[in-house]
Amino acid sequence: MADVKKVRYGIVGIGKQGTWYAKFIFKGLDKNAELAAICDISKERREWAEKNLQGVKIFEDYNEMFKSGLVDAVMVETPHYFHPVIVKAALEANLNVMSDKPAGVYTKAVRETVEFAKTKPELKCALLLNQRTNKVYREAKKIIDSGALGKLKRITWIITNWYRPQAYYDQGGWRGTWAGEGGGVLLNQDPHQLDLFTWLAGEKITKVWAKAKTVGRKINVENDVTAWCEFESGATGVFITSTHEAPGTNRLEISGDGGKIVISGKNDLSMKLEFTKNDVPEPEFSATNTVFMGKPKTKTTVVKYSPFEVIKILIKNWGFQHPDVIRNFSNVILGNEDKLIGRYEEGLNGLTFSNAIHLSSWTGKEIQLPIDEELFISELEKRKAEEAKSSKK
Ligand SMILES: NC(=O)c1ccc[n+]([C@@H]2O[C@H](COP(=O)([O-])OP(=O)(O)OC[C@H]3O[C@@H](n4cnc5c(N)ncnc54)[C@H](O)[C@@H]3O)[C@@H](O)[C@H]2O)c1
Repeated sequence: MADVKKVRYGIVGIGKQGTWYAKFIFKGLDKNAELAAICDISKERREWAEKNLQGVKIFEDYNEMFKSGLVDAVMVETPHYFHPVIVKAALEANLNVMSDKPAGVYTKAVRETVEFAKTKPELKCALLLNQRTNKVYREAKKIIDSGALGKLKRITWIITNWYRPQAYYDQGGWRGTWAGEGGGVLLNQDPHQLDLFTWLAGEKITKVWAKAKTVGRKINVENDVTAWCEFESGATGVFITSTHEAPGTNRLEISGDGGKIVISGKNDLSMKLEFTKNDVPEPEFSATNTVFMGKPKTKTTVVKYSPFEVIKILIKNWGFQHPDVIRNFSNVILGNEDKLIGRYEEGLNGLTFSNAIHLSSWTGKEIQLPIDEELFISELEKRKAEEAKSSKK
């Protein structure tokens, strides 16, 4: 790619999400990118592209697009089961590739693609983890990596503001089904939080216990989850999520020896981070304090977007988060930046947690990681078969 000035993109799947990335690149909003081709199995979407993306080559079969010689990089914007399959096919065709989240539905398929990617180190293989670009999560990562939070004690995330009414699920298609989507809130809405949970904790999860239920909606998949986990260091985590609570909550608490980070807010741009730092680490305080009911002294700092930053993002950046990830992908391909915001292989962390949550709920047992991948697949297949039987009735 050294002699190329712009990355020529091909997008597989121009439904809701793929269409907005296609428009973004087509309008020239990433100066290092051009939209060379799109591919969709839907005639209606191809006809839309013909009318609205003039000059862009249109394909029905992604392998044809990959072979065409027209593209340098692929974005995968199909339903989840296809993600690891199409990522691997793009790499086989010697193309750079970025998949939207999640990396896949089950870890076995993603792991196999990750192993294959290692045989092509010259290609960039990314995952579209747009929420990692949010200022508050970047700040949390900085605090944790600097050592200021100290040894992790607990990470707790209540993310119940992904509200989805029955009408959302009634639109049909692949959403809200085991066969189409591979799960509910864990696979559709939460891949961002599951990624951030594991990314910020910075440790491997070793055990998971969870209940995943369907509450108040006519769907087969889960829309209500309460999960507990333990990390390598013995620190613990709690992850609570739903799509049926109104109003919902988005609150992340990470506590360590050095204090506590709290991130909360109604939407991505109004999120606020509060870091309350202990003047001495808690274990040291407890070992040396002589005052009955004494507590470490603390100092709190707050980080959030200023109104000026919000305006700049919305007007100049053409949206929030996703443009940054696309521009980063182009820059890394062209050698203008070193690090991808999200590497495809990192998708295994959140997906492993997600698969372990399902497996614990399905078996009623605490799950030790790494999970039994074959057991996960056979349990998932059982649910797909039951779903197929009930839809025939
Ligand atoms: N990062 C984010 O913020 C974010 C937000 C929403 C959705 N997503 C992800 O984007 C992906 C797409 O979601 P969506 O809402 O756009 O779905 P969608 O159903 O609107 O679009 C999917 C498109 O893929 C096409 N398609 C399916 N199989 C294909 C194949 N084999 N080859 C070519 N095209 C194929 C369909 O015809 C459809 O047009 C999902 O993985 C979803 O999780 C990401």
